[in-house]
Amino acid sequence: MMTILEAIKTRRTIRKFDQTPLSKEQLAKYIDASRLAPSAANLQPLRYVAVQSREMAEKMFELVKWAGYLAPDYDPKEGERPVAYIAVCSDKSNRSNWTSLDLGAAVENMILAALSDGVGACWIGSVNYPEATKLLALSEDIKLECVVALGYPKEEPKEVAISEDIKYYVDETGTLCVPKYSMDDVLLKTV
Ligand SMILES: Cc1cc2nc3c(=O)[nH]c(=O)nc-3n(C[C@H](O)[C@H](O)[C@H](O)COP(=O)(O)O)c2cc1C
Repeated sequence: MMTILEAIKTRRTIRKFDQTPLSKEQLAKYIDASRLAPSAANLQPLRYVAVQSREMAEKMFELVKWAGYLAPDYDPKEGERPVAYIAVCSDKSNRSNWTSLDLGAAVENMILAALSDGVGACWIGSVNYPEATKLLALSEDIKLECVVALGYPKEEPKEVAISEDIKYYVDETGTLCVPKYSMDDVLLKTV
């Protein structure tokens, strides 16, 4: 069993997936973990749609964009595409200036919960929102905020030190390398 810190440190965005399906219970578990995240003023504005059927997952695939710095070369090919998605939405009547911060905490909880099952995830902000809202038949009072693509990983991206810039790249072995700032870069001071 991975510790929380191990999960945080080893988590990488996954964009190539094994085709083993995820169960309804698994998706419910990740949404449950998301639901329990911190929420400003405890407003809890977030709502979810679990996309589990193959048909809907295929349709959702057409409405999202992958790995902007490498597109379209790093797009998941057939046989590597997500087997499920969770659409993260908000209740418009319950939104506030804090909603985007709530989203950050809630989505990370979801991704870490999936990782506890060995399931990989890609947080996707680049969504065709009007079309995805139609596909999911969301009611007027619900705003689609982002989407999380899910499935067992079929790649092992790794964290690397920043040499040139923050753009992720594929190395000579085909591994996706994700440059991260070091502690020295980010810790301004301890006072
Ligand atoms: C708010 C947000 C939106 C993102 N949108 C996309 C996206 O549309 N498509 C994509 O392939 N990755 C997307 N990502 C994943 C980032 O590219 C990824 O987190 C980043 O490259 C760092 O890699 P890591 O998650 O492995 O640390 C998004 C991440 C965040 C936090």
